[in-house]
Amino acid sequence: MHITRHLLWGGLLCMPAVAFYTHPSFYPQQQQQPIGDIESKKKAPPASSYRDDLLSLHRSLVEIPSISGSEQDVGIFLKGYLTERGYTVELQYLPPSEKKNTGDEQQFNVLAWPSTNKNNGGPKVLVTSHIDVVPPYIPYHVSEQGSSSNLGSDTQISGRGSVDAKASVAAQIIAVEELLRQDDVSGEDVMLLFVVSEETDGGGMKHFSSVYNNNNNSPPTSHKDGGLLLEIKAAIFGEPTENKLACGHKGHAGGTVLAHGKAGHSGYPWLGRSATEILMRAMVDLLDADLGSSERFGNTTVNVGVIQGGVAANVIPKEASARLAIRVAVGNQTDGADIVRQKVQKLLEGKEGLELTNWMNGYGPVECYCEVEGFETMIANYGTDVPNLEGGHRSYLYGPGSILVAHGDDEALRVKDLEEAVEGYKKLILHALEA
Ligand SMILES: *[C@@H]1O[C@H](CO)[C@@H](O)[C@H](O)[C@H]1NC(C)=O
Ligand SMILES: *[C@@H]1O[C@H](CO)[C@@H](O)[C@H](O)[C@H]1NC(C)=O
Repeated sequence: MHITRHLLWGGLLCMPAVAFYTHPSFYPQQQQQPIGDIESKKKAPPASSYRDDLLSLHRSLVEIPSISGSEQDVGIFLKGYLTERGYTVELQYLPPSEKKNTGDEQQFNVLAWPSTNKNNGGPKVLVTSHIDVVPPYIPYHVSEQGSSSNLGSDTQISGRGSVDAKASVAAQIIAVEELLRQDDVSGEDVMLLFVVSEETDGGGMKHFSSVYNNNNNSPPTSHKDGGLLLEIKAAIFGEPTENKLACGHKGHAGGTVLAHGKAGHSGYPWLGRSATEILMRAMVDLLDADLGSSERFGNTTVNVGVIQGGVAANVIPKEASARLAIRVAVGNQTDGADIVRQKVQKLLEGKEGLELTNWMNGYGPVECYCEVEGFETMIANYGTDVPNLEGGHRSYLYGPGSILVAHGDDEALRVKDLEEAVEGYKKLILHALEA
Protein backbone atom coordinates (compact mmCIF):
# COMPACT_ATOMS: atom_id res chain seq x y z
CA MET A 1 0.00 0.00 0.00
CA HIS A 2 1.24 3.41 -0.91
CA ILE A 3 -0.16 6.12 1.31
CA THR A 4 1.36 9.55 1.47
CA ARG A 5 0.70 11.53 4.63
CA HIS A 6 -1.10 14.16 2.61
CA LEU A 7 -3.47 11.73 0.95
CA LEU A 8 -4.11 9.82 4.14
CA TRP A 9 -5.17 13.01 5.88
CA GLY A 10 -7.33 13.79 2.91
CA GLY A 11 -8.96 10.40 3.31
CA LEU A 12 -9.69 10.96 6.97
CA LEU A 13 -11.05 14.43 6.38
CA CYS A 14 -13.40 13.14 3.74
CA MET A 15 -15.20 10.75 6.06
CA PRO A 16 -17.57 13.22 7.70
CA ALA A 17 -18.69 14.31 4.25
CA VAL A 18 -19.68 10.75 3.41
CA ALA A 19 -21.54 10.43 6.69
CA PHE A 20 -23.32 13.65 5.85
CA TYR A 21 -24.77 12.20 2.69
CA THR A 22 -26.26 9.33 4.58
CA HIS A 23 -28.36 11.68 6.66
CA PRO A 24 -31.90 11.71 5.23
CA SER A 25 -32.59 15.39 5.93
CA PHE A 26 -29.68 16.29 3.69
CA TYR A 27 -31.97 15.88 0.71
CA PRO A 28 -35.05 18.09 0.86
CA GLN A 29 -36.18 16.80 -2.53
CA GLN A 30 -36.16 13.24 -1.28
CA GLN A 31 -39.93 13.08 -0.75
CA GLN A 32 -40.58 13.71 -4.43
CA GLN A 33 -38.52 10.79 -5.57
CA PRO A 34 -40.46 7.78 -6.79
CA ILE A 35 -38.30 5.23 -5.04
CA GLY A 36 -39.37 2.07 -3.29
CA ASP A 37 -42.90 1.32 -2.28
CA ILE A 38 -44.66 3.77 0.01
CA GLU A 39 -45.34 1.19 2.72
CA SER A 40 -41.70 0.34 3.34
CA LYS A 41 -40.64 3.98 3.13
CA LYS A 42 -42.97 4.87 5.99
CA LYS A 43 -41.37 2.22 8.14
CA ALA A 44 -37.75 3.07 7.45
CA PRO A 45 -36.75 6.00 5.27
CA PRO A 46 -33.65 5.31 3.22
CA ALA A 47 -30.38 6.65 4.60
CA SER A 48 -29.19 8.14 1.33
CA SER A 49 -31.60 9.57 -1.20
CA TYR A 50 -30.55 6.92 -3.65
CA ARG A 51 -30.17 3.87 -1.39
CA ASP A 52 -33.27 2.16 -2.77
CA ASP A 53 -32.28 2.72 -6.37
CA LEU A 54 -28.72 1.65 -5.73
CA LEU A 55 -29.58 -1.54 -3.87
CA SER A 56 -32.27 -2.62 -6.26
CA LEU A 57 -30.01 -2.04 -9.28
CA HIS A 58 -27.19 -3.92 -7.56
CA ARG A 59 -29.56 -6.76 -6.70
CA SER A 60 -30.85 -7.08 -10.25
CA LEU A 61 -27.32 -7.18 -11.62
CA VAL A 62 -26.11 -9.83 -9.14
CA GLU A 63 -29.22 -11.98 -9.60
CA ILE A 64 -28.62 -12.33 -13.33
CA PRO A 65 -25.87 -14.92 -13.94
CA SER A 66 -23.17 -13.59 -16.27
CA ILE A 67 -20.13 -15.85 -16.23
CA SER A 68 -17.66 -14.74 -18.91
CA GLY A 69 -19.05 -15.67 -22.33
CA SER A 70 -22.66 -15.63 -21.11
CA GLU A 71 -23.21 -11.94 -20.35
CA GLN A 72 -26.14 -11.48 -22.77
CA ASP A 73 -28.93 -11.44 -20.14
CA VAL A 74 -27.27 -8.85 -17.93
CA GLY A 75 -26.44 -6.78 -21.02
CA ILE A 76 -30.09 -6.80 -22.11
CA PHE A 77 -31.14 -5.88 -18.57
CA LEU A 78 -28.78 -2.87 -18.57
CA LYS A 79 -30.02 -1.80 -21.97
CA GLY A 80 -33.59 -1.73 -20.65
CA TYR A 81 -32.64 -0.03 -17.40
CA LEU A 82 -30.68 2.75 -19.07
CA THR A 83 -33.09 3.25 -21.98
CA GLU A 84 -35.92 3.72 -19.47
CA ARG A 85 -33.88 6.50 -17.87
CA GLY A 86 -33.39 8.40 -21.10
CA TYR A 87 -29.99 7.14 -22.23
CA THR A 88 -29.09 6.26 -25.76
CA VAL A 89 -27.90 2.68 -25.54
CA GLU A 90 -25.87 0.79 -28.06
CA LEU A 91 -24.96 -2.88 -28.01
CA GLN A 92 -21.47 -3.23 -29.42
CA TYR A 93 -21.14 -6.78 -30.75
CA LEU A 94 -17.76 -8.48 -30.60
CA PRO A 95 -16.56 -10.28 -33.71
CA PRO A 96 -17.45 -13.99 -33.50
CA SER A 97 -14.66 -15.93 -31.84
CA GLU A 98 -13.21 -19.14 -33.22
CA LYS A 99 -12.80 -20.43 -29.69
CA LYS A 100 -16.54 -20.37 -29.08
CA ASN A 101 -18.84 -23.25 -29.91
CA THR A 102 -21.23 -22.64 -32.74
CA GLY A 103 -24.59 -21.84 -31.25
CA ASP A 104 -23.09 -19.67 -28.51
CA GLU A 105 -24.71 -16.27 -28.57
CA GLN A 106 -22.53 -13.41 -29.71
CA GLN A 107 -21.10 -11.26 -26.93
CA PHE A 108 -21.66 -7.52 -26.75
CA ASN A 109 -20.55 -4.52 -24.73
CA VAL A 110 -23.14 -2.02 -23.53
CA LEU A 111 -22.46 1.63 -24.38
CA ALA A 112 -24.75 4.35 -23.07
CA TRP A 113 -24.79 8.11 -23.03
CA PRO A 114 -27.35 10.69 -21.94
CA SER A 115 -29.51 11.38 -24.95
CA THR A 116 -28.72 15.09 -25.09
CA ASN A 117 -25.36 14.06 -26.39
CA LYS A 118 -24.78 15.59 -29.80
CA ASN A 119 -22.08 15.12 -32.33
CA ASN A 120 -19.97 17.98 -31.05
CA GLY A 121 -16.83 16.56 -29.58
CA GLY A 122 -18.39 13.70 -27.72
CA PRO A 123 -18.22 12.61 -24.12
CA LYS A 124 -14.98 13.45 -22.38
CA VAL A 125 -15.11 11.06 -19.47
CA LEU A 126 -15.65 7.35 -19.93
CA VAL A 127 -17.07 5.59 -16.88
CA THR A 128 -16.53 1.88 -17.28
CA SER A 129 -16.52 -1.53 -15.65
CA HIS A 130 -17.19 -5.13 -16.62
CA ILE A 131 -20.39 -7.19 -16.49
CA ASP A 132 -18.85 -10.67 -16.63
CA VAL A 133 -18.06 -12.63 -13.47
CA VAL A 134 -16.00 -15.71 -12.61
CA PRO A 135 -17.69 -19.09 -12.02
CA PRO A 136 -19.54 -20.54 -10.22
CA TYR A 137 -22.84 -18.68 -9.90
CA ILE A 138 -23.60 -17.84 -6.25
CA PRO A 139 -27.11 -16.50 -5.49
CA TYR A 140 -27.74 -12.99 -4.16
CA HIS A 141 -28.16 -12.90 -0.38
CA VAL A 142 -28.56 -10.20 2.27
CA SER A 143 -27.60 -10.72 5.89
CA GLU A 144 -30.86 -9.15 7.11
CA GLN A 145 -34.49 -9.82 6.34
CA GLY A 146 -36.56 -7.10 4.79
CA SER A 147 -36.94 -5.09 1.61
CA SER A 148 -34.01 -3.16 0.23
CA SER A 149 -35.36 0.10 1.66
CA ASN A 150 -34.86 -0.86 5.28
CA LEU A 151 -31.44 -2.43 5.08
CA GLY A 152 -28.91 -0.86 7.41
CA SER A 153 -25.56 0.59 6.38
CA ASP A 154 -23.71 -2.41 7.82
CA THR A 155 -25.88 -5.00 6.11
CA GLN A 156 -23.79 -7.49 4.15
CA ILE A 157 -24.75 -8.32 0.60
CA SER A 158 -23.23 -11.43 -0.92
CA GLY A 159 -23.37 -13.34 -4.18
CA ARG A 160 -21.23 -13.81 -7.27
CA GLY A 161 -20.38 -10.43 -8.74
CA SER A 162 -21.70 -8.59 -5.67
CA VAL A 163 -18.20 -7.08 -5.49
CA ASP A 164 -16.40 -7.85 -8.76
CA ALA A 165 -17.58 -5.84 -10.50
CA LYS A 166 -21.36 -5.40 -10.28
CA ALA A 167 -20.86 -3.21 -7.22
CA SER A 168 -18.87 -0.84 -9.42
CA VAL A 169 -21.42 -1.01 -12.23
CA ALA A 170 -24.31 -0.11 -9.90
CA ALA A 171 -22.41 2.65 -8.10
CA GLN A 172 -21.19 4.17 -11.37
CA ILE A 173 -24.69 4.34 -12.86
CA ILE A 174 -26.15 5.90 -9.72
CA ALA A 175 -23.25 8.38 -9.52
CA VAL A 176 -23.84 9.53 -13.11
CA GLU A 177 -27.59 9.73 -12.45
CA GLU A 178 -26.99 11.87 -9.36
CA LEU A 179 -24.59 14.22 -11.15
CA LEU A 180 -27.04 14.67 -14.03
CA ARG A 181 -29.98 15.20 -11.66
CA GLN A 182 -28.07 17.85 -9.73
CA ASP A 183 -26.83 19.47 -12.97
CA ASP A 184 -23.24 18.94 -11.89
CA VAL A 185 -22.46 17.43 -15.28
CA SER A 186 -24.12 17.86 -18.65
CA GLY A 187 -25.29 15.02 -20.83
CA GLU A 188 -22.34 15.59 -23.13
CA ASP A 189 -19.74 15.06 -20.46
CA VAL A 190 -19.96 11.36 -19.74
CA MET A 191 -20.40 8.00 -21.35
CA LEU A 192 -20.98 4.63 -19.72
CA LEU A 193 -19.29 1.50 -21.04
CA PHE A 194 -19.89 -1.97 -19.62
CA VAL A 195 -17.71 -4.62 -21.21
CA VAL A 196 -17.66 -8.41 -21.39
CA SER A 197 -14.82 -10.92 -20.89
CA GLU A 198 -12.71 -8.87 -18.49
CA GLU A 199 -12.17 -11.97 -16.37
CA THR A 200 -10.84 -14.05 -19.26
CA ASP A 201 -9.01 -12.26 -22.08
CA GLY A 202 -10.15 -8.63 -21.89
CA GLY A 203 -11.86 -9.19 -25.24
CA GLY A 204 -14.67 -6.70 -24.56
CA MET A 205 -12.42 -3.76 -23.77
CA LYS A 206 -9.92 -4.69 -26.47
CA HIS A 207 -12.74 -4.61 -29.02
CA PHE A 208 -14.01 -1.26 -27.80
CA SER A 209 -10.46 0.07 -27.89
CA SER A 210 -9.84 -1.08 -31.44
CA VAL A 211 -13.08 0.52 -32.62
CA TYR A 212 -12.36 3.70 -30.68
CA ASN A 213 -8.85 3.89 -32.07
CA ASN A 214 -10.20 3.22 -35.57
CA ASN A 215 -8.38 0.03 -36.24
CA ASN A 216 -9.63 -2.40 -38.85
CA ASN A 217 -13.05 -2.89 -37.31
CA SER A 218 -16.16 -1.24 -38.62
CA PRO A 219 -17.33 1.66 -36.48
CA PRO A 220 -20.25 1.22 -34.09
CA THR A 221 -23.62 2.13 -35.52
CA SER A 222 -23.67 5.46 -33.73
CA HIS A 223 -20.65 6.55 -35.76
CA LYS A 224 -22.48 5.71 -38.97
CA ASP A 225 -25.49 7.67 -37.77
CA GLY A 226 -23.26 10.56 -36.83
CA GLY A 227 -24.61 10.21 -33.30
CA LEU A 228 -21.47 9.89 -31.28
CA LEU A 229 -17.88 10.89 -31.56
CA LEU A 230 -15.58 10.00 -28.73
CA GLU A 231 -12.89 12.19 -27.33
CA ILE A 232 -11.87 10.42 -24.18
CA LYS A 233 -9.97 12.70 -21.83
CA ALA A 234 -10.18 10.31 -18.91
CA ALA A 235 -11.48 6.84 -18.18
CA ILE A 236 -12.68 5.74 -14.76
CA PHE A 237 -12.36 1.97 -14.34
CA GLY A 238 -14.48 0.22 -11.71
CA GLU A 239 -12.79 -2.66 -9.88
CA PRO A 240 -12.72 -3.59 -6.19
CA THR A 241 -10.19 -1.30 -4.51
CA GLU A 242 -11.98 -0.96 -1.13
CA ASN A 243 -12.92 2.55 -2.23
CA LYS A 244 -9.26 3.53 -2.35
CA LEU A 245 -7.84 5.21 -5.40
CA ALA A 246 -5.36 2.87 -7.08
CA CYS A 247 -2.07 4.41 -8.21
CA GLY A 248 -1.75 1.47 -10.56
CA HIS A 249 -1.39 -2.25 -10.68
CA LYS A 250 1.32 -4.76 -11.39
CA GLY A 251 1.82 -6.11 -14.87
CA HIS A 252 1.26 -9.66 -15.98
CA ALA A 253 3.35 -12.21 -17.84
CA GLY A 254 3.73 -15.96 -17.86
CA GLY A 255 5.06 -19.03 -19.56
CA THR A 256 5.85 -22.70 -19.32
CA VAL A 257 9.20 -24.11 -18.22
CA LEU A 258 10.05 -27.48 -19.75
CA ALA A 259 12.64 -29.77 -18.18
CA HIS A 260 14.18 -32.51 -20.31
CA GLY A 261 15.79 -35.55 -18.65
CA LYS A 262 16.68 -39.17 -19.40
CA ALA A 263 14.41 -42.04 -18.37
CA GLY A 264 15.70 -45.01 -16.41
CA HIS A 265 15.06 -47.40 -13.51
CA SER A 266 14.41 -45.57 -10.26
CA GLY A 267 16.89 -47.84 -8.46
CA TYR A 268 19.76 -46.43 -10.54
CA PRO A 269 19.26 -42.67 -10.55
CA TRP A 270 22.82 -42.02 -11.76
CA LEU A 271 22.04 -43.78 -15.04
CA GLY A 272 19.22 -41.40 -15.92
CA ARG A 273 18.53 -37.70 -15.41
CA SER A 274 15.38 -36.74 -13.52
CA ALA A 275 13.37 -34.03 -15.27
CA THR A 276 11.28 -33.41 -12.14
CA GLU A 277 14.41 -32.88 -10.05
CA ILE A 278 15.85 -30.45 -12.61
CA LEU A 279 12.53 -28.63 -12.64
CA MET A 280 12.07 -28.49 -8.86
CA ARG A 281 15.56 -27.09 -8.26
CA ALA A 282 15.01 -24.51 -11.00
CA MET A 283 11.65 -23.46 -9.56
CA VAL A 284 13.13 -22.97 -6.09
CA ASP A 285 15.87 -20.80 -7.61
CA LEU A 286 13.28 -18.87 -9.58
CA LEU A 287 11.15 -18.23 -6.48
CA ASP A 288 14.25 -16.98 -4.64
CA ALA A 289 15.50 -14.86 -7.53
CA ASP A 290 15.17 -11.10 -7.77
CA LEU A 291 13.03 -10.61 -10.87
CA GLY A 292 12.94 -6.86 -10.51
CA SER A 293 11.20 -4.41 -8.24
CA SER A 294 10.24 -0.77 -8.06
CA GLU A 295 9.38 1.59 -5.26
CA ARG A 296 5.84 2.06 -6.48
CA PHE A 297 4.95 -1.56 -7.29
CA GLY A 298 7.14 -3.62 -4.94
CA ASN A 299 8.59 -6.99 -6.00
CA THR A 300 7.87 -8.99 -9.10
CA THR A 301 6.30 -12.24 -7.87
CA VAL A 302 6.01 -15.72 -9.39
CA ASN A 303 3.24 -18.25 -8.96
CA VAL A 304 4.17 -21.78 -10.01
CA GLY A 305 0.58 -22.68 -10.72
CA VAL A 306 0.80 -26.10 -12.36
CA ILE A 307 3.53 -28.73 -12.20
CA GLN A 308 3.47 -31.90 -14.25
CA GLY A 309 6.02 -34.60 -14.90
CA GLY A 310 6.92 -38.26 -14.96
CA VAL A 311 4.95 -41.39 -15.75
CA ALA A 312 5.30 -43.67 -12.71
CA ALA A 313 6.78 -43.61 -9.23
CA ASN A 314 9.52 -46.08 -10.12
CA VAL A 315 10.62 -44.49 -13.40
CA ILE A 316 13.13 -41.64 -13.66
CA PRO A 317 11.06 -38.88 -15.31
CA LYS A 318 12.07 -37.89 -18.80
CA GLU A 319 9.88 -34.79 -19.05
CA ALA A 320 8.43 -32.28 -16.63
CA SER A 321 6.83 -28.88 -16.94
CA ALA A 322 5.77 -25.95 -14.79
CA ARG A 323 3.33 -23.20 -15.71
CA LEU A 324 4.09 -19.75 -14.31
CA ALA A 325 2.01 -16.63 -13.72
CA ILE A 326 4.20 -13.63 -13.00
CA ARG A 327 3.12 -10.25 -11.54
CA VAL A 328 5.47 -7.69 -12.99
CA ALA A 329 6.68 -4.80 -10.84
CA VAL A 330 9.61 -3.60 -12.93
CA GLY A 331 9.92 -1.39 -16.02
CA ASN A 332 6.93 0.30 -17.62
CA GLN A 333 3.75 -0.96 -19.28
CA THR A 334 5.53 -1.47 -22.59
CA ASP A 335 8.80 -3.08 -21.58
CA GLY A 336 8.21 -4.53 -18.07
CA ALA A 337 7.13 -8.02 -19.14
CA ASP A 338 10.12 -8.38 -21.46
CA ILE A 339 12.55 -7.28 -18.74
CA VAL A 340 11.21 -10.13 -16.61
CA ARG A 341 11.39 -12.62 -19.49
CA GLN A 342 15.08 -11.83 -19.95
CA LYS A 343 15.74 -12.42 -16.24
CA VAL A 344 13.87 -15.76 -16.28
CA GLN A 345 15.63 -16.80 -19.48
CA LYS A 346 19.04 -15.98 -18.01
CA LEU A 347 18.36 -17.97 -14.87
CA LEU A 348 17.26 -21.03 -16.87
CA GLU A 349 20.10 -20.81 -19.37
CA GLY A 350 22.58 -21.28 -16.54
CA LYS A 351 21.21 -24.79 -15.98
CA GLU A 352 21.10 -27.89 -18.15
CA GLY A 353 17.92 -29.33 -19.66
CA LEU A 354 15.60 -26.34 -19.21
CA GLU A 355 13.59 -24.40 -21.74
CA LEU A 356 11.17 -21.49 -21.52
CA THR A 357 8.17 -21.87 -23.86
CA ASN A 358 4.72 -20.37 -24.48
CA TRP A 359 5.83 -17.01 -23.14
CA MET A 360 2.85 -14.70 -22.72
CA ASN A 361 4.39 -11.26 -22.79
CA GLY A 362 1.42 -9.46 -21.26
CA TYR A 363 2.30 -6.00 -20.00
CA GLY A 364 4.41 -4.26 -17.38
CA PRO A 365 3.17 -2.21 -14.41
CA VAL A 366 0.17 -0.02 -15.22
CA GLU A 367 0.12 3.47 -13.76
CA CYS A 368 -3.15 5.15 -12.84
CA TYR A 369 -3.82 8.69 -11.76
CA CYS A 370 -4.18 8.92 -7.99
CA GLU A 371 -3.48 12.50 -6.99
CA VAL A 372 -6.98 13.39 -5.95
CA GLU A 373 -7.59 14.92 -2.58
CA GLY A 374 -9.87 13.00 -0.26
CA PHE A 375 -8.84 9.49 -1.29
CA GLU A 376 -6.64 6.94 0.39
CA THR A 377 -4.45 5.29 -2.22
CA MET A 378 -3.29 1.74 -2.96
CA ILE A 379 -1.48 -0.48 -5.46
CA ALA A 380 -3.36 -3.47 -6.85
CA ASN A 381 -1.71 -6.82 -7.55
CA TYR A 382 -4.33 -7.97 -10.03
CA GLY A 383 -4.96 -7.31 -13.69
CA THR A 384 -7.64 -4.99 -15.07
CA ASP A 385 -8.92 -3.64 -18.35
CA VAL A 386 -6.88 -0.43 -17.90
CA PRO A 387 -4.07 -1.53 -20.27
CA ASN A 388 -6.63 -2.82 -22.78
CA LEU A 389 -7.92 0.67 -23.59
CA GLU A 390 -5.35 2.40 -25.74
CA GLY A 391 -5.21 6.13 -26.14
CA GLY A 392 -3.82 9.25 -24.56
CA HIS A 393 -6.41 9.47 -21.79
CA ARG A 394 -5.85 9.58 -18.06
CA SER A 395 -6.92 6.40 -16.19
CA TYR A 396 -8.46 6.21 -12.75
CA LEU A 397 -9.04 2.88 -10.96
CA TYR A 398 -11.51 2.78 -8.09
CA GLY A 399 -14.39 0.75 -6.73
CA PRO A 400 -16.22 -0.73 -3.73
CA GLY A 401 -15.43 -4.05 -2.06
CA SER A 402 -12.26 -6.02 -1.50
CA ILE A 403 -10.33 -8.04 -4.06
CA LEU A 404 -9.55 -10.51 -1.26
CA VAL A 405 -13.10 -11.88 -1.41
CA ALA A 406 -13.79 -11.09 -5.05
CA HIS A 407 -13.36 -14.54 -6.58
CA GLY A 408 -14.15 -16.53 -3.43
CA ASP A 409 -17.25 -18.25 -2.06
CA ASP A 410 -17.61 -15.41 0.44
CA GLU A 411 -17.78 -12.53 -2.06
CA ALA A 412 -19.67 -9.79 -0.21
CA LEU A 413 -19.71 -6.12 0.74
CA ARG A 414 -21.69 -3.75 2.96
CA VAL A 415 -24.41 -1.32 1.98
CA LYS A 416 -22.24 1.57 3.11
CA ASP A 417 -19.39 0.45 0.82
CA LEU A 418 -21.72 0.82 -2.14
CA GLU A 419 -22.91 4.24 -1.00
CA GLU A 420 -19.39 5.48 -0.36
CA ALA A 421 -18.50 4.39 -3.88
CA VAL A 422 -21.31 6.49 -5.37
CA GLU A 423 -19.81 9.53 -3.65
CA GLY A 424 -16.31 8.48 -4.74
CA TYR A 425 -17.32 8.10 -8.39
CA LYS A 426 -19.09 11.49 -8.33
CA LYS A 427 -15.88 13.15 -7.09
CA LEU A 428 -13.71 11.33 -9.63
CA ILE A 429 -15.98 12.18 -12.57
CA LEU A 430 -15.92 15.86 -11.59
CA HIS A 431 -12.15 15.70 -11.06
CA ALA A 432 -11.65 14.09 -14.46
CA LEU A 433 -13.78 16.74 -16.17
CA GLU A 434 -11.77 19.55 -14.61
CA ALA A 435 -8.40 18.04 -15.52
C1 LIG B 1 11.17 -8.05 -1.93
O1 LIG B 1 12.25 -8.91 -2.15
C2 LIG B 1 13.35 -8.74 -1.29
C3 LIG B 1 14.44 -9.71 -1.68
O2 LIG B 1 14.62 -9.71 -3.07
C4 LIG B 1 12.91 -8.96 0.15
O3 LIG B 1 13.97 -8.66 1.01
C5 LIG B 1 11.73 -8.06 0.46
O4 LIG B 1 11.24 -8.35 1.74
C6 LIG B 1 10.63 -8.24 -0.55
N1 LIG B 1 9.56 -7.29 -0.31
C7 LIG B 1 8.32 -7.64 -0.12
C8 LIG B 1 7.33 -6.54 0.11
O5 LIG B 1 7.95 -8.80 -0.17
C1 LIG C 1 9.39 2.47 -21.26
O1 LIG C 1 10.76 2.47 -20.90
C2 LIG C 1 11.63 2.46 -22.02
C3 LIG C 1 13.05 2.27 -21.50
O2 LIG C 1 13.28 3.05 -20.35
C4 LIG C 1 11.45 3.72 -22.83
O3 LIG C 1 12.28 3.72 -23.96
C5 LIG C 1 10.00 3.82 -23.28
O4 LIG C 1 9.78 5.03 -23.93
C6 LIG C 1 9.08 3.70 -22.07
N1 LIG C 1 7.72 3.61 -22.57
C7 LIG C 1 6.71 4.27 -21.99
C8 LIG C 1 5.39 4.08 -22.61
O5 LIG C 1 6.89 5.00 -21.03
